[in-house]
Amino acid sequence: MRVFLPKDAAALALGAEAVLRALREAAARRGVALEVVRTGSRGAVWLEPLVELETPAGRIGYGPVRAGDAAGLLEAWLDEDGAHPLRIGPPESHPWFAGQTRLTFGRCGVVDPESVEDYAAHGGFAGLLRALSIGGEAIVDAVKLSGLRGRGGAGFPTGIKWNTVRLAEADRKYVVCNADEGDSGTFADRMLMEGDPFLLIEGMAIAGVAVGATKGYVYVRSEYPQAVRAMRTAILAARWAGWLGEDVAGSGQAFDLEVRVGAGAYICGEETALLNSLEGKRGVVRAKPPLPAVEGLFGRPTVVNNVLSLAAVPWILAHGAEAYAGFGSGRSLGTLAVQIAGNVRRGGLVEIPFGLPLRDVVEGWGGGTATGRPFRAVQVGGPLGAYFPEALLDTPLDYEAFARAGGLLGHGGVTVFDDRVDLSRQARFAFEFCAAESCGKCTPCRIGAVRGAEVIDRITTGVDVARNLAVLDDLLELMTDASLCAMGGLTPIPVGSALKHFPEDFDAARGLSR
Ligand code: NAI
Ligand code: SF4
Repeated sequence: MRVFLPKDAAALALGAEAVLRALREAAARRGVALEVVRTGSRGAVWLEPLVELETPAGRIGYGPVRAGDAAGLLEAWLDEDGAHPLRIGPPESHPWFAGQTRLTFGRCGVVDPESVEDYAAHGGFAGLLRALSIGGEAIVDAVKLSGLRGRGGAGFPTGIKWNTVRLAEADRKYVVCNADEGDSGTFADRMLMEGDPFLLIEGMAIAGVAVGATKGYVYVRSEYPQAVRAMRTAILAARWAGWLGEDVAGSGQAFDLEVRVGAGAYICGEETALLNSLEGKRGVVRAKPPLPAVEGLFGRPTVVNNVLSLAAVPWILAHGAEAYAGFGSGRSLGTLAVQIAGNVRRGGLVEIPFGLPLRDVVEGWGGGTATGRPFRAVQVGGPLGAYFPEALLDTPLDYEAFARAGGLLGHGGVTVFDDRVDLSRQARFAFEFCAAESCGKCTPCRIGAVRGAEVIDRITTGVDVARNLAVLDDLLELMTDASLCAMGGLTPIPVGSALKHFPEDFDAARGLSR
């Protein structure tokens, strides 16, 4: 009997190891030989641990499984029909998965993340082989044509960034993967590294071939120990199999990778602070220009991309840029990995084409609030994203539509709140977060964040409200215009959106009666 059980961090947090032990004990008691393949997660955190049984008709899923379900499950599996209350059928046919467009996450939860052979058997490395056959300029053209934009949050066209590095003259060039994923409520980078690490390796190798870089670094946050292990194991396996090293896939081109672990600072997700950290310096933001594409790691031209931008590229090379650009809408092409969190019934990651309404995520995949209480707000784009009310739920998930509505898509984090949320507290939290995580280099952010929290306190306790609201307005404008990086520059977005859409929460009389 062969089963698949995720060892993704979310599944582990939900008891996957206890389930494994219980399944092994139940199998030993019944004299059943049980083979367990450890996979990543398919992204349905609400179904984790999701155990899958291999059958002649394909894999059949059961979830969410607890240790106490193991003996009953084993009996069900020994029966012909495998009936059990936790049975969800073939995962791909379940509506939560069937409605997605899984270009990047298609292998996540399916393959063994430690097996380079399994990756290749599921179509892996086809993009790299094609990249090696067409060369740098054609790779960059394909990435440009696909419309791929940076998935870290800024949405800058990836092909244009790569072209800048490709055309730069230098003795050495680098590819750096930003896997510092600091936005609260986001976990797509982690899930991909734990579930399909060879995809990121392949994407980075393609970037290396495209721009003429021979060395790459994956900068992972220290809070992701499973992802660090998964990446290190996969890099060793890929090198052993000839996909990395002095002679990538017999092409004569060199490209190798190393994992570096951050030390827990949110600001090290900002690309220039990240480069400083990689160089062994304090994680402080550098002024731009020069752009990292021109003068990046150790002063050399460097591609700095988020995990998901790099992981999108193998599919584009393997299936064609036009095919990728066929998904999405307007200037937001391809797919977006949406991470649904907060007060929601069905949390997890869904990969969908750009352009679907936010409502589909909150009410469809998310299933509304976990408490069953009325929905009140959703924050999209992590802690620097806007709070949207019900009236904005039909905003399409696309970069421009979100900007027009006063928000940002960021890294695709969606955090849901019910009617008990106090948006004045959330606004204060945005300032507190900025004050705690500021690198301290520029005044609007370093001082502004502290003053911002104080001003909100005055407003919500009824001290000179009209004057303090005007001061807050001024402060938000100053931080937006004069901060050196997005940390201070975007903090006004959550604060301003809370004030605009939920002004009643800043009313001192209401606050005092709470
Ligand atoms: P940015 O707009 O300054 O730059 C975007 C990227 O394009 C950078 O890599 C930059 O070097 C590159 N670039 C810009 N012009 C270029 C040119 N002419 N040629 C080549 N490359 C060029 O934005 P930034 O500060 O890098 O990122 C801000 C975003 O980060 C925010 O929108 C936010 O959503 C997101 N963010 C994501 C987090 C996460 O955990 N993933 C955490 C915090 C913020
Ligand atoms: Fe540092 Fe904040 Fe200025 Fe960014 S905005 S450079 S985090 S002080």
